Amino acid sequence: MVKYVIHGGKPLSGRVMISGAKNAAVGILPATLLVKGTCRIENVPDISDIRLLLRILSEMGASIRRLSFSTLEIDCTRVRDAVAPIDLVRRIRASYYLIGAQLGRFGHASVALPGGCNFGPRPIDQHIKGFEALGAEVELSGGYVIARAPADGLQGARVNLDVVSVGATMNIMLGAVLATGTTYIENAAKEPHIVDLANFLNAMGARISGAGTDVIRIRGVKGLHGGTYSIIPDQIEAGTYMAAAAAVGGDVLIQNVIPKHLESITAKLREMGARITEYEDAICVIRTGKLRRANVKTMPYPGFPTDMQSQVAVCMSLAKGSSVITEGIYDTRFRYCAELNRMGAKIKVETKVALIEGVEQLHGCEVKACDLRAGAAMVIAGLAADGTTTVEDVHYIERGYECMIEKLRGLGADITRIETPDNPRMQGVG
Ligand code: EPU
Repeated sequence: MVKYVIHGGKPLSGRVMISGAKNAAVGILPATLLVKGTCRIENVPDISDIRLLLRILSEMGASIRRLSFSTLEIDCTRVRDAVAPIDLVRRIRASYYLIGAQLGRFGHASVALPGGCNFGPRPIDQHIKGFEALGAEVELSGGYVIARAPADGLQGARVNLDVVSVGATMNIMLGAVLATGTTYIENAAKEPHIVDLANFLNAMGARISGAGTDVIRIRGVKGLHGGTYSIIPDQIEAGTYMAAAAAVGGDVLIQNVIPKHLESITAKLREMGARITEYEDAICVIRTGKLRRANVKTMPYPGFPTDMQSQVAVCMSLAKGSSVITEGIYDTRFRYCAELNRMGAKIKVETKVALIEGVEQLHGCEVKACDLRAGAAMVIAGLAADGTTTVEDVHYIERGYECMIEKLRGLGADITRIETPDNPRMQGVG
């Protein structure tokens, strides 16, 4: 069991360095399966989801060398045509990228369905629709997704996604990169990590254009070669520190960011009264007075990200007036509101909508991280609250935030990680 103990009420000040993007890295690491040669990948975040993926690749026969804290060399040339270990695959949702990567590399894939979801149903029908359009036969059997390409290989095709899906867009890209002919993904997701995966694949010899727009064109190539690539900074980690500075108050310079990726978050926090200055690769957030109320609806990029919903809910809980959050991506993602209410927040949830009445002060108590981003929100709430907050189930947080304790301490926070000898439960998220 690991928990964080926070003595709140101290403003944050100083600089924090953002790590490589989790949701880009979880696509890029499986993508190395498609490459014959060595990929040198920089800015890889050291988080538990990435450690798991590296173990999966390594058990499949990849040779992995750590050149520095955040730089890895991965060579999948000799990877065996093997089923990825189910006990590892089931712990990380992004293991679904192994389907596209294995299908592209070996012409077939057999991957255990990703583990338990913790904010409502998260189907993968659009991934399957894409693989089928490329000519694969896909069946679900015994908890596995089994996909087989036809004897003459996958063929480029036109895939029109019924819902804008990050995972399906990236997975179909992985399947199509070595297919014969050209694939078009229409109604594609446009998140920065989609562009990052396309850039990585192109650096290794792929021919992908249009990533970041509604239509991505993938012209199949015969093979991919090794190369060097640096993963983009994590948009949501940066947004989390922005929300922390706004909720807790203080003056924080967030470094190694791409301000363009943060525009919807910057706009919302400015509307709420935070003073934000953008630099070329940094962003400064200052909050001194009381925050103002606002409404937000989560949407696919460039809209306000669902992965920032819970962190901004903490800001709204401490703002003057009543705010409304509408969840536009998932059926619901508000389990954390009950935990915030235990700290004195006043939030009413009606399916996809949370009505938040601002309060003067949150109060420390024992709360749980319900998922990765909800866990980050609990930490922010604890930093803003008076008294002591204990956040349990922080293994969720550690799936996606590199060195959160050290980074927050660097900003003056009083936060400690306490580990008791008891294995954390691991469930699929991300
Ligand atoms: N959907 C379908 N069918 C599909 C795929 C998705 O109906 O085949 C629906 C989902 O149920 C959801 C919507 O489409 O309602 C969008 O889902 P998407 O596929 O975009 O989500 P994802 O790929 O499973 C990624 C991130 C999530 C992030 C979402 C939305 C990774 C590993 N995960 O999930 O990140 O919330 O995109 O931006 O990239 C997180 O980092 O905390 C996290 C949960």
